[in-house]
Amino acid sequence: MIASRLIAHRGASLLAPENTLGAMTKTHEIGTPWVEIDVNRLGDGTLVMFHDDQLGRLTSARGRLCDQRWDDVKALDIGSHFSADYSGERMATLSQALDHIQALGLGLNLEIKVYPEFTPEQIVFDTIKVLDTHWHDTDKLLISSFNSEVLNLLHHWRPDWQCGHLWERIPKDWAEIAEDLNLVSVHCDHRHLTEEQIRQIRTSGLDLYCYTVNEPERAAHLLQLGVDGIITDDPLLLGASR
Ligand code: G3P
Ligand code: MG
Repeated sequence: MIASRLIAHRGASLLAPENTLGAMTKTHEIGTPWVEIDVNRLGDGTLVMFHDDQLGRLTSARGRLCDQRWDDVKALDIGSHFSADYSGERMATLSQALDHIQALGLGLNLEIKVYPEFTPEQIVFDTIKVLDTHWHDTDKLLISSFNSEVLNLLHHWRPDWQCGHLWERIPKDWAEIAEDLNLVSVHCDHRHLTEEQIRQIRTSGLDLYCYTVNEPERAAHLLQLGVDGIITDDPLLLGASR
């Protein structure tokens, strides 16, 4: 169970440029205790806080992430697409992101992305190494992934870490998968979630988190139905952050 009903998606990406150190700072400033970020991999193996497999949406450069080296991307501006106030924002490595999030005292929902250019092993083993070195409080860490093999590897190598499965639509065999992988939570797209699934997951003892909810009425309704947490681009959607 995480200590927040709101989780800042990519670092409150309606309020600051997604997956940047500035967005983590913004999350802290508005009083949201937990943040969700994406970890991704460059061609040289560097792990970075970045959602897409391409540079084009968030930077002035083009190309696939898997074709980049850290030296190629570290000076890229990933804040100007959001606003001129954030034009100094640069891509952060996972290590830099963890150090910053931890210094702010935030809890972390770390989503491990696996694009087809890499295997789950390539990203999981390096992510474990970085977390071992840079993250100290595993009570304030919840790892999630759409990729079952990522969660299987984590279950094997770090059985004490809290992990949750991401799905767009929760599959029929979610309970068996959760048991096999010793998961603590289910994460799903709120648009496909039914009230019956909410009841079943609550009964199972697993936590349930929904993405990406940006409408206040929908967020309040889901929480009232028993969803444990809302992953939102706007943690201020219910008024003061909580
Ligand atoms: O962790 C929830 C959410 O981040 C999953 O989707 O594409 O925004 O990473 P995406
Ligand atoms: Mg994500």
